This record gives sequence, C-alpha cells and structure tokens, in this order.
Amino acid sequence: MKDKRFKRTLVTTALPYANGPVHIGHLAGVYVPADIYTRYLRSLGEDVIMIGGSDEHGVPITIKAQKEGVTPQDIVDRYHNIIKSSMEGLGISFDVYSRTTSATHRQMASEFFRTLYDKGEFIERTTSQLYDEQADQWLADRYVIGTCPHCGFERAYGDQCEHCGTSLNATDLIDPHSAITGNVPVLRETKHWYMPLDKWEPALREWILEGHKEWRANVYGQCKSWLDEHLQPRAVTRDLNWGIPVPIEGAEGKVLYVWFDAPIGYISNTKELLPDTWEQYWKSSDTRIINFIGKDNIVFHCLIFPAMLMAHGGYQLPENVPANEFLNLEGEKISTSRNWAVWLNEYLEDFPGKADVLRYVLTANAPETKDNDFTWRDFQARNNNELVAILGNFVNRALVLVNKYCGGVLPERGELAEVDKAVLDEVAGYRERIGDLIETFHLRDALKEVMNLARAGNKYLADTEPWKVVKTDAARVDTIMNIAMQIVANLSIAIEPFMPFSAARLCEMLLIEPMKWPQLGGDNLLPVGHKVSDNPGLLFVKVEDAEIEAQEQRLQRIKQENIINSWRPAPVAPAIDFNDFLKLDIRVGTVKACERVKKADKLLQLTLDDGAGERTIVSGIARYYDPQELVGKQVCFIANLPPRVFKGIESRGMILSAEDADGRLVVIGPAGAVRPGVSVK
Ligand code: MF3
Ligand code: ZN
Repeated sequence: MKDKRFKRTLVTTALPYANGPVHIGHLAGVYVPADIYTRYLRSLGEDVIMIGGSDEHGVPITIKAQKEGVTPQDIVDRYHNIIKSSMEGLGISFDVYSRTTSATHRQMASEFFRTLYDKGEFIERTTSQLYDEQADQWLADRYVIGTCPHCGFERAYGDQCEHCGTSLNATDLIDPHSAITGNVPVLRETKHWYMPLDKWEPALREWILEGHKEWRANVYGQCKSWLDEHLQPRAVTRDLNWGIPVPIEGAEGKVLYVWFDAPIGYISNTKELLPDTWEQYWKSSDTRIINFIGKDNIVFHCLIFPAMLMAHGGYQLPENVPANEFLNLEGEKISTSRNWAVWLNEYLEDFPGKADVLRYVLTANAPETKDNDFTWRDFQARNNNELVAILGNFVNRALVLVNKYCGGVLPERGELAEVDKAVLDEVAGYRERIGDLIETFHLRDALKEVMNLARAGNKYLADTEPWKVVKTDAARVDTIMNIAMQIVANLSIAIEPFMPFSAARLCEMLLIEPMKWPQLGGDNLLPVGHKVSDNPGLLFVKVEDAEIEAQEQRLQRIKQENIINSWRPAPVAPAIDFNDFLKLDIRVGTVKACERVKKADKLLQLTLDDGAGERTIVSGIARYYDPQELVGKQVCFIANLPPRVFKGIESRGMILSAEDADGRLVVIGPAGAVRPGVSVK
C-alpha cells in the first residue's frame, strides 16, 4: 500500500435492507468493489477486515410483514439468510456478516444513543404527526396515502409521490388516509430527539471540503451542496414498534431511527468479529476506514454518521467513501417493489458456476462516475468476446501447447529475443499499474489492465508462432512456452481480486498453490520442470443465445405484470341529470344463436330472445369468445339505439362489455337468471 500512515484497513459495506434479496445494483455499487479492494489488500499481505451485515429495522420491513400477515422478525430472518448465502455464492469475502437484530448490536446502538444523550448532544422537539386512532398506531410517512400536492396523483405515499417523484412529508398530502385502516388520521403531538447537525457543520466542512479534496467528484460534490444549503437538526427517533427501544425514561413506544442504528452496525459487527481487539480498528489513528456505499447513502455516511461519531468522541472518521452511482437494468431504474431487477440468488441458480462472469460484467461496467446500464446482451457479449475470447483463449492455448510440445513440463528458457524481453518487461509493469488503480478505487480501469495482461499473452503467442517454429527449432519453442506459462501464472494472481473462483481454477490447472500480489510481474513464477495439468479444461464457456433470451423474456413478463398492476380506474365522468339516465333503455336478453360474421374477424352476430321476439345484434367480441360459448347466456344490451348495418347485417342495439386485466372484453350479464326482456335499472 502506497500510503504508509496506516497499519490496518477496515472496509465497511452498506448494510442491505433485509426486506428483499440483493440485486445487481447493490452488487455493482457496493459489494463487488469492496470485495475486490479487500481481496487485493489481503493478497498484498495487509491487515484488513471487511464488515457486512443486514439492516433489519425500518418501516419498509414492517410494511412487508403486515402485507404478508407475518412478523417483521419472520421477514428479516428470511431475507438475511437469502442475502448471506447468495453473497457467499458470489464469493463476497466478508470477515463477518451479521445483522442489526443481534444482541451485540442492540446493546452497542443503545449505549451509543445513551452516551450522546448523557453528553447533552441531542435537542428535544415536539411536533405533530399523523396518528391512526382505529389502529391505535402512529403512521410513518409510508403508511399514509393521499393526493400529491404537486401533481394531483391520488395515490401518493406520504414519503414520496410515485407519479411525479417528489419527496413529501405525510402532512403535505391532500386528503390523507391511513394505509392500514383507510381511516382519516388525526394530528397528535409527539416528542423526539434530534441531532443538531447545524452544530457540526463547520467541523464537517473542514474535514471534507478542506481535508478530503481527493474524494470522488460525485461524493465531494454532493457533500458540498448539502453543506452549502446548511444542515438542519435531524430526528433520530421514531414512533414505531419495530427497532431498538430509545433507552431513556419517557420514551416508551419509541425506537431509534433506522439510520441512527444501522451505521453503528459497522462497529457492532466488528466487535462480534473481534471481541477483544475491535477498538483498534475504530479508535486508533493508524487505521484506515473505507466505506463502500451507493450514492443514495452519501449524506448518511459523509455527514450524519460522522457527526454522530464526532459527538460521541473517540472514533475515527472514514478515510474515503467511494460511493458509486446507480446501475440501471435494460434502460430502466432498478426497483425492488416493481421486481425490476436481476436478483443475485436467482442469477446463481440460473447460471451455476458463473459467479465470476457476473463479477466481471459488473466491474467492467461499474457505475463509478455515472449511472450505467446492465443489459443481458452486454452480459453475453462480455462473456463471449472478452472472458472466453481473450482471457480463456490465452490460458487454454498456452496450456494445450505446453502439453503438446513439452509434455506439460515447464521447459528451460534459452537466449531471449527482443519479443521475449518486451513482453516480460510489459508483464513486470502490471503489479504497480493495477495496484495503483485499485488503491485509488478505479476498479473498472484496473480490470481493463488485467485484461491487457491476457491480451499481451495472446499477442505474444501470435507474434512468436510456436506452432510454426516447432517444425524447425525445438529450443526456441521451449523458450516461448516457458514465457507464455509465466504470463499464465501472473494472470492467476492478477485476476484473483476480481474473479476469485477462476483464479482458484487456474491454480488447479497449473497445479500450484495460490500466489500473492507482491509476486505479480515475476518472470519465474513457475520453475523449470514444474508439471501442469494434462487435462486442464476450459476457464470460461460461451453463454448461448437461449440463456439470454430466457432472461429477456422474464423481464418482458415482469414489464407486463407491472403495467397491469399500475392500472387505475378512469376518472369519473361529469355528473348527469337523472332523466338522462332514464332515457337509456338497458335490457337483458338470452343468446339463442351466435355465429362469426364473414370477412370480419372482430365481429360476432348474436340472435337474442328479447322477450318480444328475436333481435339481431352485431358485436365486436369475436376475438374473445367462441360463438358456441355464448349460446344460452344472458347478456345486457342497450335496446333503444338506432339500428346500424355491419357487413350487410342490421344490428339493433349494443351488447355491454368490460375489459379484463389482459385487455380482453368480457360481456356483462345478470348475476342470476331473469326473464328475457326485463329492464336493467
Ligand atoms: N440499508 C441501507 C440501504 O440499503 C444502507 C444502510 S448502510 C448503514 O440504503 F450504514 F446504515 F449501515
Ligand atoms: Zn406527484
């Protein structure tokens, strides 16, 4: 590590909410980059730990529980386990992955709050909040539905209008209703504790705007704009029955705000990992703390949590907060509630043995400086054209040739030609180049350099052409194969932080123990006489069109479902006079006969018994009914419309119908049998 001020590194990863599995957005934003960084430091031989865990409090979890009729604990148990095992499946190498419902965390968060309280670091405020008297419950903003004051959308949530995207307070809504009972809530006074962030503004300014100009532009810029608009006190307690109780008298029924307790989870999880030495990682100034997060978490990690740490005293602030931008999916924002995501647990099931492919694609396309898009076509192309065609191809060719020409045993090198010296020189440069990029959080560029090492290998074989030389100069082939195999061995080190499963496979192919970062660049990693596998297999295999099409179809289906779910009834038409209603003569008729209208694929001709005799009606429902299905059914029709002629058939009236969720017409009839010809009133 270049920066010699630090003896150890603490890597934290944003704690994912345990209200759903993790998806590619979380992975690209936080877990894959954190894992690359941590694996690199481990490979360097540094003292480093990576902290993770589930964020198990907060309102969305209680809403999900209520919807499913289970307890919040059931919800977090379910998703904590899914998240934990799927992260393992992707090779995210947490030193600890715990949860904010653990006893250690409850105690740690509670004591943290108590310390700030005892030091007088909070201010108390009484405000009016919405209360549902029937449910006997305070209503978090998410639990209130009403009309958006900005766009008039009638089903806006109290925290945000999903129609126009404006963030709201529940008390802003016009015509608010409780999402639990549908009742009109009342305003009640309630007391809460606030962090006076305004008090910490000068210290935060100094620390970030003066002290950390090296932070990513997006992070620095967001902090600057918050600070320039000035910080306000923020409530750190809530009226809710799910969370860590506020540990002071007179606070019954109140819990710590989820964003107060969750970041303390980094500390409690460190304590769970290292019960005796955890303080070293948090309190001594030769520890470097790095917070990996997504951009929606910047304010909490750069301003609010640091203010909490300063108020508490004794804790180190993060050295860097390399927040990523967002990853979109096929051009649209990823959304847990709309199921618009690629879920890690499903990916691992659908693509067994391909964890590294996802790690590769998410890094090659990492949203480090701007939002990026994940598409299944890009996934396939990167696998087939990069992993298979460049990296896999080089490794495979080198191993096949060394088996073919040298019996799988590392041959000796003779005198080096220019081309040999050039490639060994190039290889020697990668340790520094890739390392510097990783240390400065340019993981996308770092991965590009790893691929350049593989490209250099391919180019070397193409330039030296051992398959031609073998006919004339066996000694020269030995030199070439020795060098090619040294490049392969270098790759096993260079790809490890990015693609740990493939690195392990590659070591198996080479029959070596994994090597470490300081060895990268070496020209003698494999000794002369070393035997490699004679049946190495392939490092990567093609992703077929059919696999991609299946994923695209899944997304198409979800899009359809979302369209159906987002359907809203049309606004009610302007009021009419009662007499106007009476003018409409709606009756019930019994279908006696029904047939298709020739040369009109949409039309059916129905013969109704209308009580007085037979009546012919032509109706545009042929695509939704077999004629025979309707015979014997009773239907409603308008009896007093002027006759109209369709395809030479005179139609006397109109059958009533309504659209179902798939846009298909369903005819309307009485719910029980009635006499044909009766009026509908
Ligand atoms: N659960 C939060 C989110 O998904 C992140 C919490 S990070 C922590 O946005 F610092 F609070 F732990
Ligand atoms: Zn709106």
